[in-house]
Amino acid sequence: RILGAMVSMVLPNLLIPGAPGREGAARPGESAAETGAAWPGLQGLKERLKAAGAVSRRYWTLFICQMRSKDCEEDEEATTEPLAWNLPLLTQRYLDILTMWYCSFQGCCDSGDCRISNNFTGLESDLSVRLHGQHLAQELVLRAVRSYIETPQPGKALALSFHGWSGTGKNFVARMLAENLYRDGLRSDCVQVFIAMFHFPHPKYVDLYKEQLSSQIQETQQRCHQTLFIFDEAEKLHPGLLEALEPHLERRAPKGHRAKTPRTIFLFLSNLGGNIINEVVLNLLKAGWSREEITMEHLEPHLQAEIVESTDSGFGHSRLLKENLIDFFVPFLPLEYRHVRLCARDAFLSQELLYTEEALDEIAKMMTYVPKEEQLFSSQGCKSISQRINYFLP
Ligand SMILES: *[C@@H]1O[C@H](CO)[C@@H](O)[C@H](O)[C@H]1NC(C)=O
Repeated sequence: RILGAMVSMVLPNLLIPGAPGREGAARPGESAAETGAAWPGLQGLKERLKAAGAVSRRYWTLFICQMRSKDCEEDEEATTEPLAWNLPLLTQRYLDILTMWYCSFQGCCDSGDCRISNNFTGLESDLSVRLHGQHLAQELVLRAVRSYIETPQPGKALALSFHGWSGTGKNFVARMLAENLYRDGLRSDCVQVFIAMFHFPHPKYVDLYKEQLSSQIQETQQRCHQTLFIFDEAEKLHPGLLEALEPHLERRAPKGHRAKTPRTIFLFLSNLGGNIINEVVLNLLKAGWSREEITMEHLEPHLQAEIVESTDSGFGHSRLLKENLIDFFVPFLPLEYRHVRLCARDAFLSQELLYTEEALDEIAKMMTYVPKEEQLFSSQGCKSISQRINYFLP
């Protein structure tokens, strides 16, 4: 009962990140964490609990009585002794006890925030087991994200740009990232997904969208010290919106020696450069290379040139590219018959259905393969495979 009173009266103001009165509103273009509003983490939690001591003597008495499991009347003298009140002297032991107790009902994690899981084992396994035909993306995404999250003081957000035809796995990988970095995946309040034509459909409202987008990014950063923003159909983003994103991607001088530096990951998904990727891959395959021998060196120069030259999209001309604010361009290769078969197999397995090799072939044959002559690449990749298995159900 007494503990309950403490929770309701003392803790809310001190422990809820971004509680009113503790942080001023972030100035435009300044991320939440730079104004000190990020989730405190375990160390921060202790700091705030320490502050609680100063706020409320009375509740500390009650709390300490509880902890000692003694009759408080009897113990009154000791606890009201001035020194016993001096938290720096009580210190570590009680802070540890209090922290553990807080964690027992709120949940605490290594990351200091249970919403953030950063499971690289899971990510690595998903990328190698569930993603088909994308050896470059598989390697690059894991390496880029892992090293960014493990960097103690990153000076900027991490920006990855995924390129390739539809159905090659760009959304799939974005989802894998959300699921392995956050307990609640895409539903996490640390993750935001924006679909260009869905969230920002009308060019005439671009000024409004810009404001909304900026404040949504800031609010998310205030809630979470590690955030993920996914922009689907990035090739359709209005130039004004790309401009609004710039300040969020720019490099900043690290401030102070805070234990936790906020991290932000931006993913841009687009079909820009899809054609040139396919062309390069086709030529290499025809020249006798195996798919897995294809490296970033083969693709990157062509891909970047193609994106910058694309005339029908603001993305290639945006300062995001010109100022090198995008850290990695990730090519998604066109999928072949054998990959489509694997997608079909996964679709059966995920619904716990039995399948036959014939059914997998049937499904893979339903896709259209291009170019006309070679019939090598599925024009829809693995898109809508899971709907197609319905034809083969008993
Ligand atoms: C990480 O992911 C793997 C594979 O999905 C899972 O088995 C493991 O339990 C996860 N680890 C944590 C700490 O959640």
